[in-house]
Amino acid sequence: MAIRFSEEQQVFYLTTQQSEYQIKIDQYGHALHSYYGAKVDQDMSYLFSYENRGFSGNPDVVGKDRTYSLDVLPQEYPVFGMGDYRQPALEIENHDGSYGVELTYDSHEIKMEKYQLEGLPAAYQNSGESVSTLELNLYDAISKIKVQLLYGVFEEKDIITRAVTITNMGSGKVNVLKADSASLDYADKDFDVIHFHGRHNMERQYERLSLKNGAFSIGSHRGTSSHQHNPFIILSDSETTESHGNCYGMMLMYSGNFLATIEKSQYNQVRAGIGIGSRGFRYSLAHGESFTAPEAILSYSANGLEELSHHYHQFIQKNVVRGKFRDQRRPVLINNWEATYFDFTEQKLIDIARDAAGVGIELLVMDDGWFGKRDSDTSGLGDWQVNLEKIPNGLKQLADTVNKEGLKFGIWFEPEMVSEDSDMYRKHPEWSINIPGRPGIRSRDQYVLDFTRQDVRDHLVGAITEVLDSANIEYVKWDMNRSLSNVFSESLESHEHGKFYHLYILGLYEVLERLTSAYPDVLFEGCSGGGGRFDAGMLYYTPQIWTSDDTDAVERLRIQHGTSFGYPTRTNGSHVSAVPNHQTSRITPLNTRGIVAMSGSFGYELDITKLTQAEKDEVAEQVEMFKSYYNLIHEGLYYRLTNPWENESFTAWQIVSNDKKETLVSLVRTRQYANDPIAIFRLKGLDPQQIYQLDGEEKEYTGAALMASGWPVPQTNQEYQAFTYHFVCKE
Ligand code: DGJ
Repeated sequence: MAIRFSEEQQVFYLTTQQSEYQIKIDQYGHALHSYYGAKVDQDMSYLFSYENRGFSGNPDVVGKDRTYSLDVLPQEYPVFGMGDYRQPALEIENHDGSYGVELTYDSHEIKMEKYQLEGLPAAYQNSGESVSTLELNLYDAISKIKVQLLYGVFEEKDIITRAVTITNMGSGKVNVLKADSASLDYADKDFDVIHFHGRHNMERQYERLSLKNGAFSIGSHRGTSSHQHNPFIILSDSETTESHGNCYGMMLMYSGNFLATIEKSQYNQVRAGIGIGSRGFRYSLAHGESFTAPEAILSYSANGLEELSHHYHQFIQKNVVRGKFRDQRRPVLINNWEATYFDFTEQKLIDIARDAAGVGIELLVMDDGWFGKRDSDTSGLGDWQVNLEKIPNGLKQLADTVNKEGLKFGIWFEPEMVSEDSDMYRKHPEWSINIPGRPGIRSRDQYVLDFTRQDVRDHLVGAITEVLDSANIEYVKWDMNRSLSNVFSESLESHEHGKFYHLYILGLYEVLERLTSAYPDVLFEGCSGGGGRFDAGMLYYTPQIWTSDDTDAVERLRIQHGTSFGYPTRTNGSHVSAVPNHQTSRITPLNTRGIVAMSGSFGYELDITKLTQAEKDEVAEQVEMFKSYYNLIHEGLYYRLTNPWENESFTAWQIVSNDKKETLVSLVRTRQYANDPIAIFRLKGLDPQQIYQLDGEEKEYTGAALMASGWPVPQTNQEYQAFTYHFVCKE
């Protein structure tokens, strides 16, 4: 039984294959977080500390007992204002203006299926999978606030999901000022925090730091999960490595503002929380109204970071991503953005398609610039009608011609935006987000549309539907190229603007749900200036996301390394682009660009008509190689063999088939030395007893040798050379 309540101990035990999570209801009805970690099968409340501690108050219910303090005990859902001074998960402003609620146990229910969340993405259960739900209801009898803590236990996946619903049962209005999706308390103190920060063109950069006294937080208040921080953090023991030691992941399945905070308290306890955050958030609830905090995905591994990543990879692949492209091989695509930018004609696209067909590419994506008046990024957004100057024969004929060349046809949209210079803006300036009476804030010369409004959402669904119905369009790239600012909506009362950011995301999810369910055969790719909204919330609707606008193969190594901690390879849109690279001017061999891009949903983003025949032949070989390794790359287990932040000389990674019979090892030399020193790297995940051979070679290697002693780093005479090794088990 994955969820068990011991009446005698008053402890909830949530167990997965390798982890255990405990909540204790103590004698006063407080829900205390007693444990998360390796299986122990023991009521861990014996570690609770009851001491008389100065300046840590004692709730009235304990009488004169000075040893009982919520400021010291580990809380399942800590609240601001009631004597716990660590960072809270919940902040409530009551009807009378006071803060805080005292939550105590009310009831619970255990269900043999996964809960769902209305209007929000939530991980799902596959048939035959053992998943159960704990609904733990807490209540404050004075403010009449009900808090329902939801837990989804995915036993075989070693994942526990959490979400929270707060309901105002009182007669007066209350404001929710903060409502985390999950909060965890640990008695340990020597934690490291691993997080993924960045910027446009350089997302999800790995950083590991040791937790000091005080609080460390990451987050976004840009309206998107952002390039700057990813809604995913890992806590680990300080000695944890890729393959040894305890580590805990917290990922938010949400695409908007978020905050993750890790705090080391005065008594060296650690509290980690993740949720929507409180900046710009003030959610008013009238009698009977509820707020649901988005889902958090938690996982624990006793065997280091790579196993933790595998939990997330398998979970996102099979319990988050939906639709037919979850399992089906996705087409190798060619995108015209870096080939032409806005300067293309119908004929140019057909020429690209023809040459792409010749090398085995399967889909042409027509990027930005095909609609309205759009010859630069200063105009046209919102006018989703084909530009007949560029595409004189219309979308249908273009798609049909591309299809005749043997390729599928895909198209770019940026539905959440409007240009000032557009018919849409001229007709409906009130649809864009701006504060009345204040000058607007342009970014990329555009405004954001008010997705909190039903009329705006309906208009967009209608406009996109018209385009998708007008031609054989089999792929959509959903872009979003600015952050939100000076938010305001005519659809909201003045006191309701603290709901804006969340309602925007709910509006986005509604539109995505309507379109993706109406077009199940269309592959949707997410994008926000590259990976500015790369999160599990978007992956629920778009099975892949354009990883970064930085297509430089060497920079991608670090981006892919950071991304790989939480997200599986197939979620990474990954393209070979031209050299000199458009972002860095770096020149790398075509082979290297191919090998790096193949660790993702693969494609090209260059003017193929300008390649020499020799280059086209090489591209044809790459496409063939990718297709032949597709199952391995997208279903296998991904191992980081080096950390590109520590190893200057080379970056290596490996994908191992689930039966361990096959592995693809990739390596890029990132620095060339004179008279190269000897270097060896060790493989992972193989069967030590098995004999492996390289393709086309007789020589044999035991799995044990490849993992214990390793494989030589090839000597090179030129920077940025790349290598792959495909080992297969001897029959
Ligand atoms: C940003 C995207 O990340 C690019 O790939 C491209 O689609 C441009 N927008 C188009 O404006």
